[in-house]
Amino acid sequence: MKSKIVLAATLALVCSASSFASVEGAARHTAFKKIQHDMRIIGPMVKGQIAYDKNTLSSAAADLKLISREPFRHFDSQSSAAGTDAKAAIWSRPDDFAHDRDHFYAAADALSVAASSGDLAQVRKSFTPLVQSCKTCHDSFRR
Ligand code: HEC
Repeated sequence: MKSKIVLAATLALVCSASSFASVEGAARHTAFKKIQHDMRIIGPMVKGQIAYDKNTLSSAAADLKLISREPFRHFDSQSSAAGTDAKAAIWSRPDDFAHDRDHFYAAADALSVAASSGDLAQVRKSFTPLVQSCKTCHDSFRR
């Protein structure tokens, strides 16, 4: 009970502190930040900047796969674009947006498979298209 109250208070604080005009925009922000968090674990390991650890990498990749779907549950209303970096093209070219999104899902899934195999060469191979899939979508649909 007490933890519920604390959680509600924390959520209220996060929401009021955020600059987002819409609930959807705030939800996207939170989800993309989680994706970024996983990428910051995976990226340096793939690039050899920090030591490779199979468990850390595969759990970050599994988490990324899971969370990859989350931001895209919050693009329902174009009115949620106000005050965010979401471009109007998301709603005027929904098929293109869905195409980029599905590429991203496939790349996140492939990375997760490679990471759980423990084959770092495979992980490296699947990381490049994943990064590319973020960039492709951002170039078209993010301000
Ligand atoms: C299919 C499109 C698409 C894909 C794929 C995508 N993004 Fe985004 N991303 C967006 C859009 C649109 C926004 C702006 C959302 C907003 O401001 O409401 C965004 C925003 C973000 C933000 C800023 C969040 C904030 O509000 O501060 C981060 C960080 C981010 N993306 C990281 C990533 C990473 C990392 C990947 C790949 C692993 C990725 N994104 C893949 C469309 C995409």
